[in-house]
Amino acid sequence: MGRLPSGLQILERNDCELCRSQGNVATVKTFEAHDAKVIIADIQDAAGDLLARELGGPDTARFIHCNVSHEERVAAVVDLSVSAYGGLHAITGVKHAARVMKPMQTGCIITTASMAAHVAVSPTAYTTFKHALLGLSRSAALELRDFNIRAKRVCPGMIRTSIWNELAQTTSVSQDMAGPFCIANAALFLASDDSSFVNSGDLASMISMINGFLNLF
Ligand SMILES: NC(=O)c1ccc[n+]([C@@H]2O[C@H](COP(=O)([O-])OP(=O)(O)OC[C@H]3O[C@@H](n4cnc5c(N)ncnc54)[C@H](O)[C@@H]3O)[C@@H](O)[C@H]2O)c1
Repeated sequence: MGRLPSGLQILERNDCELCRSQGNVATVKTFEAHDAKVIIADIQDAAGDLLARELGGPDTARFIHCNVSHEERVAAVVDLSVSAYGGLHAITGVKHAARVMKPMQTGCIITTASMAAHVAVSPTAYTTFKHALLGLSRSAALELRDFNIRAKRVCPGMIRTSIWNELAQTTSVSQDMAGPFCIANAALFLASDDSSFVNSGDLASMISMINGFLNLF
């Protein structure tokens, strides 16, 4: 995506059904509303293509199929940002982002971690992975600071996205749970010049600690 100005406008797009259930859709729309050019990388080809078209097509948004478990696909996402939009200013990925941001001497790497990066409230594999992400992001902040690259995390609690659909059928998940825009706006702030003096910080940790939360674990 392109460089974001300061003076952010916080969005709540209640008109968009997908934004209410898909964290990544809310984030893409929030960034695009602030004139960022976005690369949408996902394994859902039809939905990704449609979203890119809705946002105005190649001049504004492009979709690329990317399974993040394949490193070469992640590298292709970064390379597409450079070839299509002339650079890369904010991304949710570390290694290949650093490759293109270092020569630019600027950039922001945002990791979507979790409250589980700080406390053990989730299944073991998830907690372990999110703790590892925290370490990766902190190390990136340290190693890349001399290149004017910032690494930060969004650490949500429970956010109402599609991953809770199944659980919501069987547990007392609160209807008051925060929505995807809480995270999208947190990421927007971290990517913008408004947070240019923030490095290696977490935002939105403990978002939406709700009454029903402890019933889940
Ligand atoms: N929803 C929450 O309560 C919550 C809380 C803390 C952290 N998180 C984190 O937020 C992130 C996004 O989750 P979400 O809640 O927005 O879920 P979501 O289901 O709305 O979005 C997940 C997206 O990832 C895509 N995806 C799945 N596997 C992929 C792969 N291998 N390669 C590329 N794309 C893939 C899916 O197609 C989907 O579009 C996750 O890292 C999750 O751990 C979510």
